[in-house]
Amino acid sequence: MELTGRLAAITGFIPPGTVIADIGTDHARLPVYVVERGICHAAVATDLNEKPYRSALQAVQNRGLAGKISVRRGDGLRPLRPGEAEVVVVAGMGGNTIRQILAGAPEVLARVRRLILQPMVDGGDLRRWLAENGWRLVDETLVEEGGHLYVIDVAEPGRETVTDPVLLEIGPRLLEQGHPLLSAYLDKLAAGYHRVLYALARSRSSEALHRTVELTVRLKRIKDYLENNRQLPD
Ligand SMILES: C[S@@+](CC[C@H](N)C(=O)[O-])C[C@H]1O[C@@H](n2cnc3c(N)ncnc32)[C@H](O)[C@@H]1O
Repeated sequence: MELTGRLAAITGFIPPGTVIADIGTDHARLPVYVVERGICHAAVATDLNEKPYRSALQAVQNRGLAGKISVRRGDGLRPLRPGEAEVVVVAGMGGNTIRQILAGAPEVLARVRRLILQPMVDGGDLRRWLAENGWRLVDETLVEEGGHLYVIDVAEPGRETVTDPVLLEIGPRLLEQGHPLLSAYLDKLAAGYHRVLYALARSRSSEALHRTVELTVRLKRIKDYLENNRQLPD
């Protein structure tokens, strides 16, 4: 089985020889791939919902991997025992759902050595939570697949030195690297801000006004980064 760009990029951050847990595994593509390739000798694949849990179980059994991949049904990290998985992958969910998953089982999270997270939206909220809860962003990347741009964040226990909310919104390591897809990503972020500001313009409440001012300041900074990034030589 081959993996597509997004999932393949995630596997690139898995240290060989570790035990991973893939939370919200759906068809278990990621754990099947890393165990079949010998990147990991064992994995746990979990899903909250019956249908994806059944698909994962089926995929693991069909490939004769039931002795190496434990498929479990349950919410977030809760099906894991503390210390069971050194690396946790949570991909394809909103940043706030991922944040809730991480916060929902502190005794499991405390024993995790690396998080590989791929939020579909609200990456800034997720990075802020990581920085405020003893996680350092060790790497980040962007992947384009099927006309979509995906961000992947890698975090390890430690102190994140960047606390500026706008930098955490963009992704501090992406900025430091001058990632080749950074301009496209900043464009996407700016478009999201424009959509929210457009919706806020319909309200006359003081709360909406306050939020409009805050978002306008942030949008200006994102556009400044975009401008600077476009001026960098290739
Ligand atoms: C869009 S799929 C992503 C599948 C795969 N991780 C990927 O990136 O291709 C999201 C999966 O997360 C599962 N899910 C959602 N909330 C969850 C939670 N709190 N705990 C475990 N699984 C969850 C859903 O049932 C679904 O199978």
